[in-house]
Amino acid sequence: MGIWIDTDMGFDDIAAMLVVLHAGEAVDGVSLVYGNVPLGQVKRNAAAAAQAFGWTFPIHQGRALPVLGKLETAERILGQTGMPTSGLSLPDAPALPDSDAFLALCRWLEDGEGPHRILALGPLTNIAALALARPDLAARIDELTWMGGGVSSGNHTASAEFNAFADPEALAIVLAHGVPFRMVDLDLCRKVIAYPKDVEAIRTAGGAKAALLADLLAGYVAIGTSRGRTGMAIYDPCAAVALVDGNAVSFRPARIDVELAGALTRGRTVVETRANHATFNAHYAIDVDAERARRHLLAALTKEAAR
Ligand code: BDR
Ligand code: CA
Repeated sequence: MGIWIDTDMGFDDIAAMLVVLHAGEAVDGVSLVYGNVPLGQVKRNAAAAAQAFGWTFPIHQGRALPVLGKLETAERILGQTGMPTSGLSLPDAPALPDSDAFLALCRWLEDGEGPHRILALGPLTNIAALALARPDLAARIDELTWMGGGVSSGNHTASAEFNAFADPEALAIVLAHGVPFRMVDLDLCRKVIAYPKDVEAIRTAGGAKAALLADLLAGYVAIGTSRGRTGMAIYDPCAAVALVDGNAVSFRPARIDVELAGALTRGRTVVETRANHATFNAHYAIDVDAERARRHLLAALTKEAAR
């Protein structure tokens, strides 16, 4: 059985999907969700990525708004497409066929024998919708690995990571339904960096596709370097690495909660790892072999560039 990917389809989401594919895993289906950009742009990005990389797995359209609260996006950091680039960008593609993500996810959970593994790379709205409407099917999820949250700090606000901030109620719903949950947060992902030198390594790997991937990675890396850092943290690909390589990321049992009420701390994830202080409801990624994770990313991008 392959993997289901739930994504808001920015560049690091695409890179995470390439990590999954180049690790030899099959993708059974993809559900799109609003996130760094509104759902309409996410759909355009997905259509363009599917065309550019020859993806044939089904891509379904999910939620455009959070469970509660207002739509929160991040164009101020990532630009109008959610995919900063230093030059070439994904060429436009015909729109994807209309296909409902909720129904597709239900079918996947109903029909397949499992294990049912989900990689979630955006706000958890689609998964929360499933848990609310079909808790019987949510109970068939064997593992949900999510890039999101941040224990020591946020990125979208001082307190909260973007995917958590965009729909904290969804995160709370998923946790409350007992979905086997593994959180790969900002603290972990910030240990794994893409550098400008990686861009050149990819550029030299091939022809037109190498140039495209290099320009997309360059735009992503520039988010970090334009702020005086040496590179840019690899977010979503870290969660993909955790899924495909059991030796790269280590987890420990934890109690994970999310702040729903705080005026300054809404979306903050709170992690308790002391067994005598809480009932554990999840696993928390505590360490990563950063070089190994980088190798997964660079191997995936280089192989795709040469394909
Ligand atoms: C998350 O938001 C986006 O920038 C990334 O794709 C990642 O899912 C990091 O906060
Ligand atoms: Ca994402």
